[in-house]
Amino acid sequence: MPLPKAELHLHIEGTLEPELAFALAARNGVTLPFKDTEELRRAYDFRDLQSFLDLYYGLMAVLRTEDDFAELADAYLTRAAAQGVRHAEIFFDPQAHTARGVPIGTVIEGLATALDAAERRHGVSTRLIMCFLRDQSADSALETLESAKPHLHRITAVGLDSAEAGNPPSKFREVYEAAAALGLRKVAHAGEEGPAAYVREALDVLGVERIDHGLRCMEDPELVERLARERVPLTLCPLSNLRLRVIDLLEEHPLARMMDAGLFCTVNSDDPAYFGGYVGDTFHAVREALGLSEDRLRELARNSFEASFLEDDEERRAR
Ligand code: HPA
Ligand code: ZN
Repeated sequence: MPLPKAELHLHIEGTLEPELAFALAARNGVTLPFKDTEELRRAYDFRDLQSFLDLYYGLMAVLRTEDDFAELADAYLTRAAAQGVRHAEIFFDPQAHTARGVPIGTVIEGLATALDAAERRHGVSTRLIMCFLRDQSADSALETLESAKPHLHRITAVGLDSAEAGNPPSKFREVYEAAAALGLRKVAHAGEEGPAAYVREALDVLGVERIDHGLRCMEDPELVERLARERVPLTLCPLSNLRLRVIDLLEEHPLARMMDAGLFCTVNSDDPAYFGGYVGDTFHAVREALGLSEDRLRELARNSFEASFLEDDEERRAR
């Protein structure tokens, strides 16, 4: 029996497996610049975050209809449930789809079809987190929030992702304030490729409840002390860090040191179709590479429920 856990850092577009990408391409009459799934997989050799994002946004061209989004989410939930996931808080990037002419309603209602069935089909509870692309303008983020208004009952929180360096959290102060006024919770990617200062900004300027990634906080001892004291959850993604070359070797991942420093850590898969593993695989990989004890793994699983947006009674049922 895999350890029951929650997944809190998962981009639904990052669960698009090559086989599904080719099936959707055929269904939708989209031509991909790869001969077959093998050639596509060989392209998953990333230098950094940007080289991944270029391929990732390109492959999204196959996602066009509500059914496509429902199928994508159902495939993720099937795999996640098999690896012990009982609860998933799922990011999606509306601007990556609306820019291609796919309406935001198609994305949200398609995902919602799969999520509504997830408890019954897979025994997994879910939440949706709508991310703004930080390399797009603040106005575009505001327009995205506006266009999501008819679907807000489907959305729990807002997030911030895409190219981090040079796109500080403060650029999105206004849209985060507007989101909070609408009753949405707040998270943001910070301290993945960007500096520790962006982690501070995400907390102080955007008022986020969790930091996605956050590992570069380790360059700032005062910040580490604060994150530990305030018990700010960090949604770490070690296989992503390895594949995007934030670290050179999994054995060098700071996860164990971060837990030793009293940080509130969780382990997640980020974009599992691209980074070589779903969250159960990620737990396995860090156990092997870092020699984490069973107690430490149980602590990570416990943290994942505690850091989730579940209410206390839901949390007890999910564990
Ligand atoms: N970082 C930023 N944006 C992303 C990521 C990531 O790891 N994955 C998908 N979008
Ligand atoms: Zn991410």
